Amino acid sequence: MIRFVTSNRGKFEEAKRILNGVDLVWERMEYREVQADTNREVAIQSLRELKGMVKDPFFLEDSGLYIDALNGFPGPYSSYTFKKIGCKGILKLMEDIEDRRAYFTSVIAAFIDGKEILVEGTVRGRIAEGERGGGWGFDPIFEPDGAGGLTFGELGERKDLFSHRGLALRRFLRVLRDLKYI
Ligand code: IMP
Repeated sequence: MIRFVTSNRGKFEEAKRILNGVDLVWERMEYREVQADTNREVAIQSLRELKGMVKDPFFLEDSGLYIDALNGFPGPYSSYTFKKIGCKGILKLMEDIEDRRAYFTSVIAAFIDGKEILVEGTVRGRIAEGERGGGWGFDPIFEPDGAGGLTFGELGERKDLFSHRGLALRRFLRVLRDLKYI
């Protein structure tokens, strides 16, 4: 059994699908996130903060959307930015900007048998011209490379094949296997 500490249902559902064969428990809680320039730093600090509060083994995930033309904004502030301005706000910021390139990064930080483990996944893509499809967060406005121009939102569960979280979680699954955890 391993606990996934998150308040985000979308993240948990993706983890449940991808970590096949793992006894995954949703530790549904919010935790304080430090301000930092990278998701990696946020993930490590959050992990250390949670160590005394959540039972080993557990993991958390920190992710963000980095838009090239906006110098990487919103990056580690993606959750805050989504809450404040949403997809519409990003589309507005991107009005008249031709360079739509962006990437998503996911960092998984785990604490297993007293050891810290870190894995990451990144997917490049572009910001769509409008919102398409469902999903959560910025799913309707992100088109991952290689998906024929469909957004995460339009891809449904096929998002896992392309997404930053899909990559990171599959790497994490391999780590769990190597540790003879599953
Ligand atoms: P955090 O990892 O909880 O700090 O939040 C990351 C934020 O980035 C989320 O609240 C979303 O707004 C955005 N985000 C991260 N991954 C995804 C994704 O797979 N789809 C859509 N939005 C995402």
